Amino acid sequence: MTELTDLTGAGGPADPTEPADPVRFPQSRTCPFHPPTGYDPLRDRRPLARVTLFDGRQVWLVTGHTTARALLVDPRLSTDRTRPGFPAPTARFAAIQDRRRAALLGVDDPEHRTQRRMMIPSFTVRRAGELRPDIQRIVDGRLDAMIAQGPPAELVSAFALPVPSMVICSLLGVPYADHEFFEEQSRRLLRGPEAADTLAARDRLEAYLGDLIDRKRAAPEPGDGILDDLVHQQLRDGTIDRAELISLAVILLVAGHETTANMISLGTYTLLQHPDRLAELRADPALLPAAVEELMRMLSIADGLLRLATEDIEVDGITIRAGDGVAFSTSVINRDASVYPEPDTLDWHRPARHHIAFGFGIHQCLGQNLARAELEIALGSLFERLPGLALAAPPEEIPFKPGDTIQGMLELPVTW
Ligand code: HEM
Repeated sequence: MTELTDLTGAGGPADPTEPADPVRFPQSRTCPFHPPTGYDPLRDRRPLARVTLFDGRQVWLVTGHTTARALLVDPRLSTDRTRPGFPAPTARFAAIQDRRRAALLGVDDPEHRTQRRMMIPSFTVRRAGELRPDIQRIVDGRLDAMIAQGPPAELVSAFALPVPSMVICSLLGVPYADHEFFEEQSRRLLRGPEAADTLAARDRLEAYLGDLIDRKRAAPEPGDGILDDLVHQQLRDGTIDRAELISLAVILLVAGHETTANMISLGTYTLLQHPDRLAELRADPALLPAAVEELMRMLSIADGLLRLATEDIEVDGITIRAGDGVAFSTSVINRDASVYPEPDTLDWHRPARHHIAFGFGIHQCLGQNLARAELEIALGSLFERLPGLALAAPPEEIPFKPGDTIQGMLELPVTW
């Protein structure tokens, strides 16, 4: 790859004493709620380190909290994955990334600004607050069904996945009856196993959402989902075209259920592994918002945000050269001890608000208010309804996701 020759010399190491053999990125976690132990050397290499991707290419890894926030608002870092030289964390990702531009997360300003402005009214704090009764109803329904069938239960399929899946379906106007189809395609899109699976899954999702959009367009009366609004307003008045709307629908549907599902499963596992903290939370449910924030910081499930430098950038005495790849390890950044004393401790009495688990800058998570509401209601209700909730297998035997995707539990056997 040309990037390899371009980049290995570019900028030079962040620290002249940095080992010639940089840390590999990304790596899988050894404990699902801690960064991979393979990243330990990076904790002393702040705010930037060189890391090696799967193909041998070296990129910058941002590890310092202040530098991360400065770079994530820098317009000279692009998220447009179709740009030549955009870094790929895996071979699978490399095989798919230059095909089509993804909405929102894959576009820069000014295009991004137009798309984002269309979406903001549907994702405000107030809107998330209005959705709380619906979210509570969905959570109660899943818990009723799980309790009627169990114990034991597999919490990912019985609760953690269906809750956000049902919520995003009702919000977008996607029929939940199709959930098995789109959950499977999302899984393949994010985790493969092969590039061919990923591409086929994306094609199937796009075809499915394209059909749905056409049906909505043909309907005499608009439904009440976000996609209905977009079809009957922005598509009709030409603010967006059909391809762009499909691309928006894909990211909203996939990001809307996969991420939150992982936070519910991994958040539950983590709390069960911290019984003192859990007892405190059960005794005082008013701590829930702070607990969710601290879990977001500690778990940092989207652990590898990617950018490409389009111009030279001077930061902390280092030059990131145009064409350099830049990755952000949210798990390492969110454990920067200069910002979070005793960073490896789960402690919701700390001011954890400025974590970057939802990103930062123009691409900061659009669904964060919704995600917070879902997590508070899902975790709060789960632990309230099931006071005896416990893992139904030895913790070290419970499988979790590999490092090249959103972090979370593959399965979570529980009893009560
Ligand atoms: C706990 C759950 C969630 C986590 C951890 C999470 C994390 C993130 C992160 C880190 C980013 C920024 C990525 C980057 O800058 O490279 C992001 C962006 C985004 N998220 Fe979330 N997310 C979650 C839930 C949701 C939900 C429920 C939705 C609902 C639609 C959503 C939709 C989006 C969208 C559309 C973007 C792209 C925004 C843009 O580029 O303007 N996310 N998310």
